[in-house]
Formats: sequence, C-alpha cells, structure tokens
Amino acid sequence: MATVTYEKATRVYPGSEVPAVDQLDIQIEDGEFLVLVGPSGCGKSTSLRMLAGLEDVNGGSIHIGDRDVTHLPPKDRDIAMVFQNYALYPHMTVAQNMGFALKIAGVNKTDIRTKVEEAAKILDLTEYLDRKPKALSGGQRQRVAMGRAIVREPQVFLMDEPLSNLDAKLRVQTRTQIAGLQRRLGVTTVYVTHDQVEAMTMGDRVAVLKDGLLQQVDTPRNMYDQPANLFVAGFIGSPAMNLVEVPITDGGVKFGNSVVPIERAALTEAQGKGDTTVVVGCRPEHFAVVTGDGDNGAASGLAKADEKKEAGLAVTVNVVEETGADAYVYGTAEFGGEVRDLVIRVDSRDVPEKGAKVNVVPRPGETHVFATGSGERLSD
Ligand SMILES: Nc1ncnc2c1ncn2[C@@H]1O[C@H](COP(=O)(O)OP(=O)(O)OP(=O)(O)O)[C@@H](O)[C@H]1O
Ligand SMILES: [Mg+2]
Repeated sequence: MATVTYEKATRVYPGSEVPAVDQLDIQIEDGEFLVLVGPSGCGKSTSLRMLAGLEDVNGGSIHIGDRDVTHLPPKDRDIAMVFQNYALYPHMTVAQNMGFALKIAGVNKTDIRTKVEEAAKILDLTEYLDRKPKALSGGQRQRVAMGRAIVREPQVFLMDEPLSNLDAKLRVQTRTQIAGLQRRLGVTTVYVTHDQVEAMTMGDRVAVLKDGLLQQVDTPRNMYDQPANLFVAGFIGSPAMNLVEVPITDGGVKFGNSVVPIERAALTEAQGKGDTTVVVGCRPEHFAVVTGDGDNGAASGLAKADEKKEAGLAVTVNVVEETGADAYVYGTAEFGGEVRDLVIRVDSRDVPEKGAKVNVVPRPGETHVFATGSGERLSD
C-alpha cells in the first residue's frame, strides 16, 4: 500500500499546444479511493495513464509512496490497471486469465493457484474458474478483470471506466461490490468515470477535472455542499443545480417578489471584482413551495407583477417528472425580464398540474453564490 502524489504533473501530447493535463496537484492517501470525474476529453484517462507509466509526463512529478516514478517504466511501478475494455484471453480459462500476469512474472504454479483461488473467493468466481470467458455474463467477466488485478497484490489499483460495458442495473450492483472490495483490501485506488453519481457514491474523495485543469478535490459531501465554482456546481448533482444571474441589490438578491438574503461579504467581494451581478445557485431539492395554487394573479400580466402579494418566485410548470420516490417540476420563471428554466423537487404526493403556477423560495442557507466573471464561489 502507498500514497500517490501528483505534483504539477503535466501532459502535452505531441502536436498539441494545450496540455491535456495541466499542472495536476493531488495527494492521495494510503488506502484511499479517489475518483477522477469530468466530461469527455477533460483529461481523466491521461491522468491515470501518466500514473501507470503509459503516457510521458512533460512537467512536474508523480510519486508512489516515497518513490519518484515519474520516468519509471510501467512494470516497475507496482500498480495494476483495470480498463474499460478488459479484454480477457478467450482461449484461456478464468483461472488462467487471472493467473496470467503471475505466470509471466515466473511465480510457481502452486503459488499462482493459491492466489487465484483466494481472489476467486473474494469475487465469488470459484465455480467459474474452469470456464472460458465466452461462457460468462458481462458482470462475471468484469469480476475476472478485477481478479487479474487483485492477484498481483499491487500498491495501487488504477481503474478506467471499468463498468461502462455493463447495463444500468449491473453497474449499480458492481459499483457497490468494487467499493466494498476496495475497502476490504485497503489498496489505494484511482478510479476514472464520467458519471458523477458513480463518483459521488464510490469515492472517499472526488477530483473534478475540466479542460485538463483540476477544479476541486473534496469529499462527496463537501463537493455537494460547497462546490468551489460554477462548473462544479453544475456538474455535481442530478438534476443539476439551478443557476441564475441576478443583479446585486441592497441586502440580498431579488427572487421574484422575495429578496433572498446573501452574506454581505459575498456581495462586497463581487463588487470588488467589478461585477454588478452574481450567479445564485439553488439545488432542485432546496426550494420551498410557498403556494401551490393554479391561479394566483400572475396571469394578469407583466405590468402588475410588482403588485402581486404572493411571496417568492412564480414558476410556470411545463413538465412534471415522477420517479416514484420524487417528483421534479421542470418549469420557467422570469428573472429581470428574461425567462429562465428551473427544476424544482416537489412532494411526490402533491404534484402540481402542467401549466399551473407554483411560488417557490430557496430554503434559508441553501443558496450558493458565485462571481459572474470568474465563476468562483463567493459564499461560505
Ligand atoms: N494519444 C493522444 N494524442 C493526442 N491527443 C490525445 C491523445 N489521447 C488523448 N488526447 C487528447 O487529450 C485530451 C484528454 O483526453 P483523455 O483521453 O485524457 O480524456 P478523458 O477525460 O479520459 O475523456 P473520456 O471521458 O472521453 O474518456 C483530449 O482533448 C484528447 O483529445
Ligand atoms: Mg477516458
């Protein structure tokens, strides 16, 4: 087991001017499960492959424990990797597939058998050891690929979207198994996914990348409660956080007929940056519905909007999505004369009709404030 440290690690592919990974700084603890997440092309696989030794590091360094592995060949790094396309050898049995790396390394047959059987037990593959891969389900094949990594007892596991070939239900099951297995084995793991739900449910900590730049590395809880910038705010959480640009007014920001109080420090900071607006974020589950009535006078038109007595922001319901446990209203509301889309979670037993109006206010303390220009978080 070991720590992993990226220190300003940079990868510029030949023929490209922009780094695919730009001065990446992450310290991963011994035994930690760290998930790299971000949109396609943000540099997740490149970061992982730099750690594996499959991609040159053009700047900075990478350490495993106190060993500088920046320029070591892959075989000397003591890592095991599980890829998305975990191509198993079709002519070999499950046991032979799992033991192959050990055989190449010259480990004797009895030791290989013992290690393979141990791994098979952990992975629930014992009864399949003599089968060929084509006679296995997708999930079982995936576990064989995990088994290949486990038998090598590496210092670090590297996994690049290992679940993306599985169907939705199996993915959910297998992600729980992998997370549980990692905790039991206690092997430091770097796991790549583009699925933020997978990242949030599996990781001890999550690192969000965008355009080769690390945006935030934090526990899932902190990432959700205190996104560091607009990008992370919009990326983490499903449905995504509502983000609206609003003018700064005394004591807060205007949300329909209500003023939502915002920390003075946040507004002062925004003004210090020369901004006249801020971006306010509120997650779908953090709105309170103050009225649920279909006719609250909003139909009387724009000119009278200011005379309305209804508190909060009037949202017109366009679509209601019911998942069983939850219901989400997809609607529109007016902000400073502009119509904006909003998503609001409502009580699944008290769902408004399509076309109705509901008035909502953000729950106290559940708003996020970001600088319009830089996108940085301003509130605590
Ligand atoms: N071998 C290569 N040569 C040149 N550019 C590359 C190479 N591999 C990746 N890139 C570029 O580097 C950037 C990062 O790619 P990378 O594969 O790390 O992204 P990713 O986050 O893993 O994306 P995905 O979710 O689609 O797998 C992309 O812009 C990609 O086009
Ligand atoms: Mg990738």
